[in-house]
Amino acid sequence: MEVIRWGILGLGNIAHKFATDLSKVNGCKLYGVASSREQVAEKFAVEFNVKKFYNNYQKLILDKEIDIIYVATLNQDHYKYSFEALSNKKAVLCEKPLAINKSQVQNLIKCSKKNSSFLMEALWTRFNPTFKQLLSWLKEDMIGPIRYINASFSFNGLKRSIDSRLFNPHKAGGSLLDIGIYPLFLAYLVLGKPKDIKSNAIKTSSGVDKQIGILLSYENSHAVLYSSFSHNEEMIARICGEKGEIYIDSRWHESPSLTLVRGEKRLKRNFNFKGKGYSYEIEEANNCLRKGYIQSPLWTQKNTLDLVVLMDEIREQNKILYPMENT
Ligand SMILES: NC(=O)c1ccc[n+]([C@@H]2O[C@H](COP(=O)([O-])OP(=O)(O)OC[C@H]3O[C@@H](n4cnc5c(N)ncnc54)[C@H](OP(=O)(O)O)[C@@H]3O)[C@@H](O)[C@H]2O)c1
Repeated sequence: MEVIRWGILGLGNIAHKFATDLSKVNGCKLYGVASSREQVAEKFAVEFNVKKFYNNYQKLILDKEIDIIYVATLNQDHYKYSFEALSNKKAVLCEKPLAINKSQVQNLIKCSKKNSSFLMEALWTRFNPTFKQLLSWLKEDMIGPIRYINASFSFNGLKRSIDSRLFNPHKAGGSLLDIGIYPLFLAYLVLGKPKDIKSNAIKTSSGVDKQIGILLSYENSHAVLYSSFSHNEEMIARICGEKGEIYIDSRWHESPSLTLVRGEKRLKRNFNFKGKGYSYEIEEANNCLRKGYIQSPLWTQKNTLDLVVLMDEIREQNKILYPMENT
């Protein structure tokens, strides 16, 4: 595979940011795009100098010139189009959450294995240099046994319509799946699966969470997590151990800087991100494709499954159900 040819399926807000970053990554190019709205597809293709554009997702999936498809539709459609692409032996990078529940994620993993097609959830934070540094400091045992994690993701989305992707249950809305997935991911990445979960949601009239507090308990530590569409917040992540702490600057999920604190000593690292930060997940997917992997060793399919199981449990505790959940 000399130059890896990417396709983007669904051309909304995130697709634009992703395409901008993709243009900064070596060894790949954006080759085709598809939107259900032809004019949008054409405009996008002109803007990003893309060879092919389609007014239909299936045509993109069937395009033999394309190696990997980035699924950038709304949550409720991630499963459907990822499944279709994998079944047609296309590699898939799908926006988070990969799918809305455990059973959908399991089916996608089976489909990836059956077709030997690469599948990765686009949890972009995992691949950036800040997180590489965080994991390296933890591996070097710089802060000792971890006792406490505190992370949140919050913004004021109250003016968005009840039909928006944030609040509509038919679009698998709610803060947990949209942004709460990030603090959960941080706790899971650092501490693994908890032994107990307690959570409490404040819900919209449409039945999804507009804010939710989550307490994960481990043998010797706690993670206090939170997500919300109700207000803005600074969003610093704190990882605290017996010997020191690591603080990831605001907004931690996309931050290029973090600080290691050990008593009086502070060590700050500041990275010059390539693009906004989506470039690192693109590079990871490219590397995996070149090596013939069907999953990334950095964010495995099992990691995605573990995370969705946590989200299922939290939704169950708060009776957050989606109308389409029978797959
Ligand atoms: N990684 C990140 O930083 C990040 C940030 C924001 C969002 N996201 C994730 O990215 C995904 C897309 O978010 P977005 O902000 O890009 O959303 P968006 O702009 O509202 O919509 C994305 C695409 O979904 C399709 N779509 C929109 N409304 C639809 C409807 N009612 N029914 C069926 N399809 C519809 C459209 O595809 P067509 O082009 O075909 O019309 C649209 O272009 C979500 O899963 C979200 O969780 C990730």
